[in-house]
Amino acid sequence: MRITGKTGIMFVLAHPVGHVRASAVLNEYFQARGLDFAAAPLQVAPEDLGIVLDGIRAMSNVAGFGVTIPHKIAVIRHLDAITEEARRCGAVNFVRREADGNLIGTNLDGVGFVTGLRAAGVGPAGKSILQLGAGGAGRAVAFALAAAGAGVLTIANRDGTKARELARAVATGFPTVEVHAGNAARGPFDLLVNTTSLGMKPDDPLPFDLELVEHTPVIADIVMTPPETKLLATASRAGRAVVPGRAMLDAQMDLVAKFLKIH
Ligand code: ATR
Repeated sequence: MRITGKTGIMFVLAHPVGHVRASAVLNEYFQARGLDFAAAPLQVAPEDLGIVLDGIRAMSNVAGFGVTIPHKIAVIRHLDAITEEARRCGAVNFVRREADGNLIGTNLDGVGFVTGLRAAGVGPAGKSILQLGAGGAGRAVAFALAAAGAGVLTIANRDGTKARELARAVATGFPTVEVHAGNAARGPFDLLVNTTSLGMKPDDPLPFDLELVEHTPVIADIVMTPPETKLLATASRAGRAVVPGRAMLDAQMDLVAKFLKIH
């Protein structure tokens, strides 16, 4: 990779920075397309986020940046504008730096997830879907599934209040989608989606009952490390179709390039 004064620069802001994968995926994307751009992770402590963003405003060779844990919500108050997707989710994962230094945030997690599903041959339209998780990523995925025409969307979460609040918000935004909140959901479902962090640690329990996994045609996980979670391994063994977390990130690359006007 040849980085020169003409190279457009991107950052990925995180704390801790060790788990960041998006910079490598972005660089692979830029290289595969011969784009003169490069991305580097930046370790930014929460209390320094404002200073770093002020710095980026002053750096005119920066195209934009990604933000991940713990900045996805906190970054919003430092930005000049956010897109409808980011507003709905209450979280931002990519920011464009405009020529005048203005910073515009968006959230591509949801549309990336749905694009990844479609790339794996699974369209959410009309489907009965059980989503586990109502955190930042869960919000993005739920709104995107509804926007993609999900038939029935059931949202479960350890903290049931968050699931009910998200279900209400999705139902309000998308009145044609039947939305439920419920941890006791039994199915049958066409698709199970894990948007929690369960599966990152080797001793994590399965996010769904084994029986549900074995009786649902498609299982999607947004966990990216490990690439094959226990959930996906179990589903594959049972002959189910699986969509790994990496699909969501891969699908976001074209979307990021478009949003940042990289070409
Ligand atoms: P992200 O931005 O990655 O979505 P988050 O907003 O902290 O991160 O959300 C984490 C999600 O994983 C939440 O749905 C969380 O459930 P709670 O809302 O009940 O906290 C879920 N989660 C994390 N650890 C979990 C565990 N051990 N068991 C079940 N759910 C868990």
